Amino acid sequence: MTVLLTGAAGFIGHHVARALLARGERVVGIDDCNPYYDVRLKEARLGLLARAPGFVFHRLDITDREAVLSLFEAERAARTVVHLAAQAGVRYALVDPYSYAETNVAGHLVILEAARRLKELRHLVYASSSSVYGANTELPFAEGDRVDRPVSLYAATKRAGELMSYAYAHQFGLPQTGLRFFTVYGPWGRPDMAYYSFARAIVERTPITLYDEGRLRRDFTYIDDIVAGVLGCLDRPPDGVPPQRVLNIGNHRSEEVATLVELLEEALGRRAVIRCAPRPASEVVETFAAVDAIGKLAGFRPATPLAEGIPRFVAWFRRWHGLA
Ligand SMILES: NC(=O)c1ccc[n+]([C@@H]2O[C@H](COP(=O)([O-])OP(=O)(O)OC[C@H]3O[C@@H](n4cnc5c(N)ncnc54)[C@H](O)[C@@H]3O)[C@@H](O)[C@H]2O)c1
Repeated sequence: MTVLLTGAAGFIGHHVARALLARGERVVGIDDCNPYYDVRLKEARLGLLARAPGFVFHRLDITDREAVLSLFEAERAARTVVHLAAQAGVRYALVDPYSYAETNVAGHLVILEAARRLKELRHLVYASSSSVYGANTELPFAEGDRVDRPVSLYAATKRAGELMSYAYAHQFGLPQTGLRFFTVYGPWGRPDMAYYSFARAIVERTPITLYDEGRLRRDFTYIDDIVAGVLGCLDRPPDGVPPQRVLNIGNHRSEEVATLVELLEEALGRRAVIRCAPRPASEVVETFAAVDAIGKLAGFRPATPLAEGIPRFVAWFRRWHGLA
């Protein structure tokens, strides 16, 4: 069966595509391969996917309505859509705030419009983010909590995506699941994220900046657990009225960023040079996912502690950067 997958050259998209191909699906990948981070990494991910006969790729921008509508029309037998393309990251909003509104709001709308024309569509799964919980302090974060106090533009646009999706489920009966990802890491990861940029700095002996002395806490979720959760949800479309739901997908463990640094130091065999700075306003103090709902629905059980996942990431990181 055909799955339309946006963000296929991205970190999570690449891994989801591999898992779908491995179970025999035909995957139509979409990505504009923009230079937000190293395009060679995106191309290398695509290169691996291209080895599978079931993978087809279209380099296009999801804000290009005509191109997306005509691709979806050509692929009208598709029964599932996984929408992961986004302007990710929080800090880039200081450089190009419009990219968040363009891809995460206008682009999300284009995918909804294209998806509602698919007569055979059973389920659209899209990426949201733990950042929608914003300034909330009650832990762990649960799906029913307030999500109207974003502390970054990124979070505001991800919440906007959820709201548009709700409206399309209500108005057009478009069956959807929004997944609120919690700090995903692993091999083929994103160079803009802390675990990756810290690894790089440790190797290069340049200082890493730790906010609030490393006391910020994150629910770090290993990519293989995320993939299992995405596929588990994809296979179970919602049947309520409206047919939609939003689910947390995290490791259900909140750990200090200082612990992340220690694990990186251990795996890389080198101490970090640390510089401390106050937490920027766009960073939340802590994230911690309640995962009962996705556990009940899709049997989701995160199985990879940070102490196991970081050495696996570092093994890949060494290979990718040609380090001994
Ligand atoms: N990685 C995480 O920790 C995390 C956490 C929360 C939410 N998310 C969400 O999960 C999804 C995937 O994240 P990721 O970590 O794989 O990020 P990523 O940046 O590696 O992947 C996103 C992909 O989307 C593509 N893209 C961006 N704008 C596009 C456009 N206009 N048209 C077509 N393609 C476009 C990019 O080229 C990239 O390959 C995103 O929606 C992100 O917001 C990720």
